[in-house]
Amino acid sequence: MIKIHLKFVNSTNEYAKIIAQKEKKEAILAGGVIIIADEQTSGKGRCGRKWISEQGNLYTSLLIPINNIDKEKLGQVSFIASLAVLNSVKKCDDKANMKLKWPNDVLFVDAKFCGILLEIEDDFLIVGIGVNVKAAPNNNEINYKTTSLAEQNIIINKDDFADILWHEFIIIFNSWNQYGFLKIKKDWLLNAKGLNDPIKINLGAENLYGIFRGINDDGQILLEAEGKIKQISCGDVFF
Ligand code: BTN
Repeated sequence: MIKIHLKFVNSTNEYAKIIAQKEKKEAILAGGVIIIADEQTSGKGRCGRKWISEQGNLYTSLLIPINNIDKEKLGQVSFIASLAVLNSVKKCDDKANMKLKWPNDVLFVDAKFCGILLEIEDDFLIVGIGVNVKAAPNNNEINYKTTSLAEQNIIINKDDFADILWHEFIIIFNSWNQYGFLKIKKDWLLNAKGLNDPIKINLGAENLYGIFRGINDDGQILLEAEGKIKQISCGDVFF
């Protein structure tokens, strides 16, 4: 696996796209590329939001060839990524009290410290992960609390955390490739916040209310309302 370390970049995901376009062969031969930047000038979040990317936190993307993977299953990878973050933090502090929030947030109780952005470029998947290692920027675009590993008394260097994180990711990713989504879904649900509780899902223009009943194999959230199960692909969950 090639590792690229940058001081500045617009976005590690965008940089990964350039590699995917220009250096396809090398990337395929190497089995993947990890990009880490000290700072991002245009860090991207989900749903066209910004990801504040000052020095000290981790901004990283993994570029992997996916020519042998069923494209319809790629949404499942965001659950792999959030489990990898959870496992990595547990490696640093086995008592860390975290929860997973659909689709791919990892929380300390109710505060977000990590963001995951998956993108596809040709035959490559880009798994972009931002972790608040040192500081918890307050992003006005997201209306929930933020925290950092440091604030939770987990003191680790961002590059060391990146090593643990991608190691965990590859283990879970390989297991997914070999055995499928079932185990990952089970592990994700075991750590999910608000399972079988009432939630609100904001779809932009409207809100849906119901009971959070889990996820399906496409990674959609299952919301029970008026005796029926709705399957939702995109939205923001509130507890
Ligand atoms: C979210 O909205 O929660 C997703 C945030 C994803 C941020 C990471 S930081 C590394 C990679 N590069 C980006 O521009 N975004 C992702």
